[in-house]
Parts: sequence; C-alpha cells; structure tokens
Amino acid sequence: MTTSETLAPSSELTKSLLRFITCGSVDDGKSTLIGRLLYDAKMIFDDQLSTLERDSRKHGTVGDEIDLALLVDGLEAEREQGITIDVAYRFFTTDRRSFIVADTPGHEQYTRNMATGASTADAAIILVDARKGILTQTKRHTYICSLLGIQNIVLAINKMDLVDFAGERFFKIVSEYIGFAQSLGFGNIRPVPISARFGDNVANKSQRMSWYDGPSILAHLEKIPIADREGTGPFRFPVQWVNRPNLDFRGLAGTVASGRIEVGEEVQVVSSSKRSRVSRIVTFDGDLTVAEAGQAVTLMLEKDVDVTRGDLLCRPDATPDIADQFQGHLLWMGDDPMLQGRSYFLRLGTATVPVRVTTLKTKIDINTLEARPGRTLALNEIGVCTFAAAHPLPIESYADHRRTGSFILIDRATNATVGAGMVQYALRRATNIQRQLHTIDKGARARLSGQKPVILWFTGLSGSGKSTIADMVESGLHRRGVQTMLLDGDNMRHGLNSDLGFTTADRVENIRRVGEVAKLFVDAGLVLLCCFISPFAQDRASIRELVGVDEFIEIFVDVPIEECRKRDPKGLYKKADAGEITNFTGIDSAYEPPIDPEIRVDGMRETAKAASDRIISWLMSRGGGVDDGGI
Ligand code: ADX
Repeated sequence: MTTSETLAPSSELTKSLLRFITCGSVDDGKSTLIGRLLYDAKMIFDDQLSTLERDSRKHGTVGDEIDLALLVDGLEAEREQGITIDVAYRFFTTDRRSFIVADTPGHEQYTRNMATGASTADAAIILVDARKGILTQTKRHTYICSLLGIQNIVLAINKMDLVDFAGERFFKIVSEYIGFAQSLGFGNIRPVPISARFGDNVANKSQRMSWYDGPSILAHLEKIPIADREGTGPFRFPVQWVNRPNLDFRGLAGTVASGRIEVGEEVQVVSSSKRSRVSRIVTFDGDLTVAEAGQAVTLMLEKDVDVTRGDLLCRPDATPDIADQFQGHLLWMGDDPMLQGRSYFLRLGTATVPVRVTTLKTKIDINTLEARPGRTLALNEIGVCTFAAAHPLPIESYADHRRTGSFILIDRATNATVGAGMVQYALRRATNIQRQLHTIDKGARARLSGQKPVILWFTGLSGSGKSTIADMVESGLHRRGVQTMLLDGDNMRHGLNSDLGFTTADRVENIRRVGEVAKLFVDAGLVLLCCFISPFAQDRASIRELVGVDEFIEIFVDVPIEECRKRDPKGLYKKADAGEITNFTGIDSAYEPPIDPEIRVDGMRETAKAASDRIISWLMSRGGGVDDGGI
C-alpha cells in the first residue's frame, strides 16, 4: 500500500467511527487478533510488511508464516523501554466504517479507559482461548466492561484451529458465558468462533466452520450501533490548566467532558459558585462559536473569576452535587492490598485531592458475581467502597457522566496508579453534616494559654528511645509552664485502639485515629508529644496535612535495628526472633524512615538528655510550640 492510498478520500470524513477495546492477554491471541485485523483491513504498510516477514523468520513462533503478533508486540516492547507513551490507539478503516482500538497491555486497558475518559468505547472484544474456555479472567474482564457501561460484547473464541474447528466446543463455551453475563445488562453479546492466526472469521468468513452462520468479527464491528453519548448530557469542562501568557490573556484550557457551550453563554465555577460568560473559545485552528464534548479548547471568560487547575465549569442551571464523601466501585490494581484508612490521591476530572477509603462495603466474587464481606482488596479485586476526600468535589454518577464520574487512586509514595473506580453517588450524610464553627477556636485557646500549639511526632523503631526522649522533653516543657499532653503507642493500644493489632491495615488505622486525636489536642491549644513507631511515610504525611503548616514536627529517632535488638527493653525482639510475635517492625514488617524530618536524633551518638535539650531549644528558637510568654 502506498502512502497516497491511505489519505482519506472525502467519504472517509462521513464514515462513522467505532471505538473498541480488546480484553485478553497475549496468550489468548490478543496481539495476533489486532495484527490480523490491521493486516486484513490492509492497514499495514509495505515497509512494515517486509520488516514483519524478516522478523517472523527470526523471532516468529508460527513457522514460515508471518507472525502478526510481532507487529503489535514489537510496539509493546518499545513501550516497555519507555519509548511510546500512554495507550497505543490503533486506527484502521474499511469501506463502511473507521475504527479505533485502544491497545494497552494488561491492566492499563482499564485504568487508561477510566482515567483518560476513553471510556467511550462502544464495544469490547473479549478473547477466550477455545482450549481453555471461560476463565476467571474472562469473567473479570466482562464484569469490568459492564461497570464501564460498554454495551456491545464480542466474545471472540480464538484458536478454533487447535480444537479442530469443533462447533460443540464453541457452543459449550458460549452457553457458559451467556449464563454468566446475562445479568450484567449488556445490550448485545455476539459470540464468534475465530482463528486469529489463520484469519478465520476475523475479517473474512471462515470456510472451515460451516456450522457457524454469523458474521466475521470485522463485519460485526461494522454494524454495531454507535451511541452518541458524548454530545448529550449537561456541559462539563474540567479545567486542565490556566493559560496566562500575558496580562491581557487568561484562558482556561481543557477538554469538554460532556455537553456543549457557546460564546456568550453563562458558566459557573463549581467550587466557588462564581459566574461569568464565555467571551471566546480559542483553538489552535482559530476561534470557535461552539465547543462540544471531546474538543480540546481554551475558554476565555468575560469577568476574571478565580479559577484554578482542577476546577469544573458547568452551566448555572445544571450543577453537579458537591460532596466530600461518596460511594463507588473500586477495581484494585496495586500489588499491595488496598488499606482502609490510608490516604491515597484521588484523581477525579482534573482535580487531585487526598482521599481515604472509609469502608469496604462489599467485595465482588467475580466467579459468582455475589457480594461478599471483606476487609481489603487485593490485586485485581473489585469492591464497593465509600470514600472520604480531603475537600468537597463535584460528585457525579458514572452511569450518567462517564468522564466526570470515573476516577483513579494513586499511591502517594510511589505515584503508581493503584485503583480505578466509578462513582455511584454522593453520600448524603456528607452533605448533611456541616462543620460547626465555634466562637472560641484554636487561636483563641492558644492565646489564652500563651503558647503555640504543635505536634512533636516521634517516629522510630521499637526500642529506639522515642518514649524516653519524649518524656524528658515533656518534663522540660512542663517545668517551663507549657501545657502539654503525651500520647504513646503502648498506652493508646490499651484504650481507644485496643481493637487493633499489628498488621499493616491495623497500623494504618492506628495512626489515622491517633492523627485525628492529635488534631483535637492542637485545636485545644496544647503542645502534644506523640510516640508511635508509625512505620509508613504516607500515614505520617497525612497527619501533617490535618494540621496547619509548622504544627507538625517530625522527629526521627534514628537507631539501627541491631542496636534496638541489643537494647530490647521489653524483650520483644527476642520474642520476634523466636517467632512468638509476628509482623514485628524491622523484622517481618517494614519501617520507612523519614526522608526529611524536621529533627533527626542520632541515637547512637546523642544521649536522650542531649537530644531532649536540643529539641526544646529548637522549639523555642522557632517560637513554635512555646510562645515567649509561656516560658
Ligand atoms: S505502630 O506501628 O502502629 O505505630 P505503635 O507505636 O502503636 O505501633 O505500637 C508499638 C508498640 O507495640 C511497640 O513499642 C511494642 O511495645 C508493641 N508491639 C507489640 N507487638 C509489636 C509488633 N509486632 N511490632 C511492633 N511493635 C509491637
């Protein structure tokens, strides 16, 4: 094929466009199927073909034939080296229709779908190996497709050549699949027996399965109805960034998530309820009078209202719910299990805010689709959870607002995407409970006592000397007339936290509760000392966020584990080494040292007395914690 032939003739412009995703692994023949579709739709260029022939001879796994998987996998290898970014959208076209297949490895296919709003897929091809039949993975993919709201399923039963093109095998798999999927609400399920390797029923009808009277995959894809869901719905514009190249120009850049907006129409900033009118719609190719869903534009407003990245613009008469708590489905994709109570980053629209999973309401048993109780979600598991975000956000159901109702969760330490989800609804309890503002606040209380409230947070291994140093610091402050309070792991675990053990999940919850209590003491205007191993950096960081700047002082009592083991004041290391205690920090449970603590105590070189004196003078020199009048 020459390049000129690939230029779109005028009819191309009027052809409809179908977006679809493929679910399955390379083992199921995913790459081969995509390669075959591109090849049979004649979307492979001559030079690609000769490279392919050469590579097939060298690396191929299918004898003398062209290994179509190499076409796709070659690009995947590139992606592994970090050359290609994001999803590879492959485009191909036939006389009847154009297609975009989002080709993404493994989990990416869902995360990206949810995260980038490509959840507009009209169809999903679910690949099944005819020899293996329906696997748990097939069910999981199907369930996720139903959560994503994909209406059309193509059940591609592949490798029919390896089961002698037997109709029996096909029909058995189909009936099992339909039994599973019928309750999931798909508009259409089309099973097709194929051999991606040989091209049977991919683009061309197979001569070898006369018992099958349905269409080939491509013929079916050409007929799937395309829903116009983007254009419908209320106007939503998540602001990606505020573009201010000079004083005269201030544009709000982003992609219209749903609906449309015209120049002159009134818009409202959801977070502030401030209104203005659209004065210009700017694009690279000049100004527009109307912007529609899917278009990347820069909006200029008549009045300079305050807008930042992450804000959402809508019409004043169609605003979303605002809430900081909501319920939704969560698909977990982190290697470490989901932890209730831990702070993650929530990316919803263009906003990123800290969020906690407050409850895992149910876990979905993917094989039976039953809802079961559970405490955590492991890799690949799906559950219904409630979430509490650090700030109120526009919360819209995914069912009605695909682009603004989907979200991802990001691990705060590694920046990895660990979950993807779909909002069900805002929780009323969140909107019904408002914070009471009292006349006497933290500042007033602190003024009366003449001191600046602060948390001195001691972290370190068991036996590092946190409690000893904190005790001395508190005595020193007390002598100076400072009102203090001390919270300590062993003591808290006898009371408020007596229901918690030492699993990662329990430690996260332990520190979360202590953080909330600590915040109350800061509000009371006290100098609070906290001694907790608090092994996880993220959990310490989220306490810092609860209080004001300069109100959280992290003190790392740095003593190597060998020394703690030698000291072993409570005999716990001995027990842990003997296997009598499990999940012991530093032995079979991790400790993540602070990278940049306000104060580091070198427990090998500095005595507890010296350390406590240093902490007190540090505090006094900053005026933090101890106000001059209080000393
Ligand atoms: S944390 O990890 O959740 O922050 P916390 O500081 O509350 O721990 O409690 C730690 C104290 O519990 C230790 O000082 C020790 O006395 C006791 N302890 C009992 N079992 C363990 C364990 N498996 N790991 C660490 N500390 C333990």
